[in-house]
Amino acid sequence: MHIGLLTGGGDCPGLNAVIRAVTLALANECRARVTGIERGFWGLLHGRARPLEPATVHGILAEGGTILGTHNRCDPFHDTDGADRSAQALAFARDELRLDGLVAIGGDGTMQIAERFHRLGLPVVGVPKTIDNDLPRNDRSFGFDSAVAVVAEALDRLATTARSHGRVMIAETMGRYAGWIALEGGLAGGADAILIPERPFDVAALARWCREREGTVGHTLICIAEGARAHGQGLTVQARIADSPDPIRLGGVGAWLQQQLQPALTSEVRTTLLGHVQRGGTPTPFDRVLATRFGYHAAQLVRGGRWGRMVVLAGAECDSVPLDEVAGLSRPVPATDGRLQAALGLGVWMGDAPGA
Ligand code: F6P
Repeated sequence: MHIGLLTGGGDCPGLNAVIRAVTLALANECRARVTGIERGFWGLLHGRARPLEPATVHGILAEGGTILGTHNRCDPFHDTDGADRSAQALAFARDELRLDGLVAIGGDGTMQIAERFHRLGLPVVGVPKTIDNDLPRNDRSFGFDSAVAVVAEALDRLATTARSHGRVMIAETMGRYAGWIALEGGLAGGADAILIPERPFDVAALARWCREREGTVGHTLICIAEGARAHGQGLTVQARIADSPDPIRLGGVGAWLQQQLQPALTSEVRTTLLGHVQRGGTPTPFDRVLATRFGYHAAQLVRGGRWGRMVVLAGAECDSVPLDEVAGLSRPVPATDGRLQAALGLGVWMGDAPGA
């Protein structure tokens, strides 16, 4: 058996742990040959691949990023000039590499492309990857725990300045259109306010609340997700990348909030945009284990010929769901989420009720 493996979308702590687990499990349990496709679907389109052997993946478990490289702009079905070059990519996979199947590790965009190749006859198993933790029917993505650890540490550090200077300190997290990183990171870092896309907020009410705190606790720590917005406001977009499947790059809502709050307050308001530090570096032990379990489970699906499925974590156990049921979908924080309820119950300021 000859299996291709690629990593698509943004980099993420734990990708190398999945690459290692798939390679080792397939070599160990069924002597399958594994070939790594370089830079995601870009490599499939441009004929770039190299063998992955147990020796190749030695020592990469704790390494951040992906040894195969990745790409978050390349879609063979819609190339940079708009042309559909999926046949070219398919020919490389089938005729040149003679792959029996492909393991695609990536987020919603990667799963969408992978599912289309599966329908065209290239058997695919998907492994969900995203620090955003927003893939449907998957209780936890690897990379999320590592991102949350960075946010929690940043909030701990920002709290020092908030307390010492009597300031309002704002930390802006990643997470795209879902609030998981801000919610869990904010809880872990003891944020006084957590603002997420699922709960639009009233900026005047937030300013009043911060002003009241100037006379009581004396400082405020705010954790805001990049996709959060005030009532009547659109998303804060940092850049638009024309040739990207998802052209919108979020960022800057923390700075926007600072501008709104400052005139209403006596204390200084300062913002830190955490950015890509949340995505870089070594995965936490939790993410190393989750990524290893996902990779092993993907290898089991391949061995069992259970193609067209994506690995998920359901409760505490690995399982899989049909790719066509999840491709292109996302998973916002539901109002019933236990972390959200706990934050509200503890008096964390989270704006109005969802959709209000
Ligand atoms: O999906 C992961 C993610 O890190 C998002 O949280 C963020 O909005 C986006 O990717 C940033 O992408 P890029 O690295 O292309 O700017």
